[in-house]
Amino acid sequence: MNALSLVNLKKTFEKGTPNAKVALNGISLEAAPGDFITVLGSNGAGKSTLFNAILGKFRLDRGRIVLDGEDITYEKDYRRALNIGCLYQNPLRGTAPSMTIEENLALAYSRKASKSFFAVNRKDCEYFRSLLRELNLGLEDRMKTKMGLLSGGQRQAASLLMAIIAEPKLLLLDEHTAALDPPTARKVLDLTKTIVASRRLTCMMITHNMQSALEAGNRTIMMDDGRIVLDVSGEERANMTVQQLVARFRETAGRDLAVDRMLLG
Ligand SMILES: Nc1ncnc2c1ncn2[C@@H]1O[C@H](COP(=O)(O)OP(=O)(O)O)[C@@H](O)[C@H]1O
Ligand SMILES: [Mg+2]
Repeated sequence: MNALSLVNLKKTFEKGTPNAKVALNGISLEAAPGDFITVLGSNGAGKSTLFNAILGKFRLDRGRIVLDGEDITYEKDYRRALNIGCLYQNPLRGTAPSMTIEENLALAYSRKASKSFFAVNRKDCEYFRSLLRELNLGLEDRMKTKMGLLSGGQRQAASLLMAIIAEPKLLLLDEHTAALDPPTARKVLDLTKTIVASRRLTCMMITHNMQSALEAGNRTIMMDDGRIVLDVSGEERANMTVQQLVARFRETAGRDLAVDRMLLG
């Protein structure tokens, strides 16, 4: 069974107005359990819209979304959130900056249907500490520190734990390292790889860095104008350079890629 199936997704924003924009134009994708798919595409290609469709942030024009065998096309976003972890570029999004690391983790942990935030006990706290220890950033000794006082990289690392703590069926990362300086981005990317691999998570990661896209995960898709124009995995991808990826895009899309932003960072 697929972990995720997207069947012919279409989304038009401001439909029926002169500003109508087809942001998803027939997206189909099957992800196997444990697939770690990196997602490339220039600004406005529809990457974030694709994630928002999976998260149920709006109604699709058409298409079907099946997560772990369950058709979630018409499921409300807050229900889907129980099974889908996500992390964004802005390290404050999705966290409570005035609450401690421990409280933030407890909050994320309690999203598991069976848990109440107030029922978090000492055993849970030991679990949180062991997770933080995995990050190797010394945060296990700073559980009472307010989230808002952490550096950007520390916050993204802690937020990554929040995104996976309730054992989601799918992890969505939307440029989660884009706001970090290069060495910190490197560190958070490495942590991401470790955490996704150790838990065999099914994951999709949007990045504008083509090198990271080829290096992390087992499969890379490239989006352009609401479509998936490239899908590489296996041996082909293992030996692929950024230059070859750009060349493949040029072949399929019949034009040049806006590489400006995508090669940076
Ligand atoms: N809520 C919205 N209302 C209207 N247009 C939107 C909305 N969200 C995204 N778009 C448009 O859809 C297109 C795809 O956007 P997006 O998915 O954010 O691109 P990406 O993440 O690949 O940079 C863009 O043209 C964007 O302006
Ligand atoms: Mg985006």
